[in-house]
Amino acid sequence: MVKKSIVNPYEVEGKIDYDRLIKEFGIKKLTDADLNRIKKHTGEIHHFLKRGMFFAHRDLNKLLDEYEKGNKFFLYTGRGPSGPIHIGHVATWLFTKWLQDKFDVELWFQFTDDEKFLFYNQSYEDIQKWTKENMLDIIALGFDPKKTHFLIDTKHAGIMYPEAIKVAKKINFSTIKSAFGFTDTNNIGSIFYTAMQTVPVFLPNVLKGENKMCLIPLAVDQDPHFRISRDVVEKLGHRKPAILHAKMMPPITGVEGKMASSKSNAAILTTDSPKEVARKINKYAFSGGQDTIEKHRKLGGNPDVDVSFQWLKYFEPDDKKLEKIEKDYRSGKLLTGELKKILIDKINAFLKEHQKKRKEAKKLVEKFIY
Ligand code: TRP
Repeated sequence: MVKKSIVNPYEVEGKIDYDRLIKEFGIKKLTDADLNRIKKHTGEIHHFLKRGMFFAHRDLNKLLDEYEKGNKFFLYTGRGPSGPIHIGHVATWLFTKWLQDKFDVELWFQFTDDEKFLFYNQSYEDIQKWTKENMLDIIALGFDPKKTHFLIDTKHAGIMYPEAIKVAKKINFSTIKSAFGFTDTNNIGSIFYTAMQTVPVFLPNVLKGENKMCLIPLAVDQDPHFRISRDVVEKLGHRKPAILHAKMMPPITGVEGKMASSKSNAAILTTDSPKEVARKINKYAFSGGQDTIEKHRKLGGNPDVDVSFQWLKYFEPDDKKLEKIEKDYRSGKLLTGELKKILIDKINAFLKEHQKKRKEAKKLVEKFIY
């Protein structure tokens, strides 16, 4: 029997069957018609959409109906600051930035320092350190400071808590238990937490006296929070958010599970040196190639399970180049080592820019914090 995968904010395990998740979560697969509708406004289809890395949604069409009537939305996403940023995180946020630029909308970015303190065995001080560090990575991606606001749960508790209790009052413990796989031994803060993650769905409207819709780009493991709270926010007189769901970027060790900074050999961190990137990919990146060159030339490799190829789908936006790499790898013309080299160069080029901007970001932090 195939082991069932688990996907929720606190556990991602096994090989994820995304079609099954679509059914289980009650979300909708993005269709070509959806992509073309987005293209009407953006002028292009981002390669993450075209290649299915963003694969599903909730209420996208409602959001675009409104947008086409001239009603802008705002974007909301977030980060649990428990450690360093890896390239999987960056992927979702690069897409978020693309949405911000193309639709010319505000982004509210939540740092859930409360969440990571409650769920992880880390001190409050440690989490504060990572909050500061993680902000630099997000700023380095080039978000517009005039249109981007950072919310830090403990710092902004004064404006968030009054709204969080209204949400919390409408959710019972048994709902939380089944959505997140909790038991009676979970600490009581963790049970409340989902209310805090719900607040930014409508907080900008409360602060400004507006009634805009919210669009949340997220990795699909975060969907259970909003599956619970979409109904709740409506009961509170706010609008249900629309959501765009991304697949989990596969870890370096193979296409199962998700990348985690806590297993530092399984992830490329934004602070890794070019040497470190090359070392990790050469040593650990799961290969779909054959074990000898002779066999590889004869039988070819399998890009579908090859992590280097899967990652290039994120980092090589040029369709023609990517197609050629895929074809050459399948035929055996391109060897695993050569494929890895292409990926290493791509990632290092990205990180070189990123690390430069990350240094400059220190001066900008205050501009972003709400
Ligand atoms: N819980 C998320 C994490 O652990 C952080 C987060 C907060 C988030 N709000 C969000 C992620 C909204 C996506 C969308 O990283």
